[in-house]
Amino acid sequence: MNNQDILKRKSAERAVEFVKSGMVLGFGSGSTFKHVLHVLAEKLNSGELKNIVGVSSSESTEKLADELNIPTATLSSNPSLDLTIDGADEVDEKLNLIKGGGAAHLREKIIAQASKQLIIIVDESKVSKHLGEKWAVPIEVIKMAVDVEAEFLELLGAKVKLRLDVEGNSLITDEGNYILDANFGVIKNPKKLARKLEKRAGIVEHGLFIKMADYVVVAKENEIEILER
Ligand code: A5P
Repeated sequence: MNNQDILKRKSAERAVEFVKSGMVLGFGSGSTFKHVLHVLAEKLNSGELKNIVGVSSSESTEKLADELNIPTATLSSNPSLDLTIDGADEVDEKLNLIKGGGAAHLREKIIAQASKQLIIIVDESKVSKHLGEKWAVPIEVIKMAVDVEAEFLELLGAKVKLRLDVEGNSLITDEGNYILDANFGVIKNPKKLARKLEKRAGIVEHGLFIKMADYVVVAKENEIEILER
């Protein structure tokens, strides 16, 4: 494991301390969240945790949970989740987030809003004073609207790029849409920007998570810090 992986693992271990036997969990996505599944599998195998079931926010999470023999369910069979653990791309001082670096923010937001609590796990490189210092905002759009939505985002002041997959084709999300990465620079008022994006037909979901995280577990070189909203 490289240094960043060690920090990811540490944040995952700390977050899993919030999990109690019998909980229905929301499973996030991404390279940090994968460590959560490994820690959960270890605790289920040792008997330290029992009767855990999780609702996955992406196909890749569902696949790994299956491989690790962690029981999963659907949101229809379990519409109320006790706790969701997930990663993020950027976190500000108020615990607002940018998510969607893995193109899964639509399902992640659905899972998060169905949860009583949302715990975000990051390493310290992802914490900023203001959102937008480090990341563009991923915006999931329906295919037919991709050009007009790119134009709309540019009018709001963003530099916009269509997300491509590893083969250089337009990336298709789990829900069959495109992703536009909209770089707004420093976002002074993320709530206001979120409202503007939410009013626009054709935008399925944006990666701004405003006042959704209850805790952010930040793994640092020598300590774990827990930020609370
Ligand atoms: C997936 O779409 C994202 O929201 C991820 O949770 C986020 O990009 C963090 O991913 P990493 O843990 O891989 O950095």
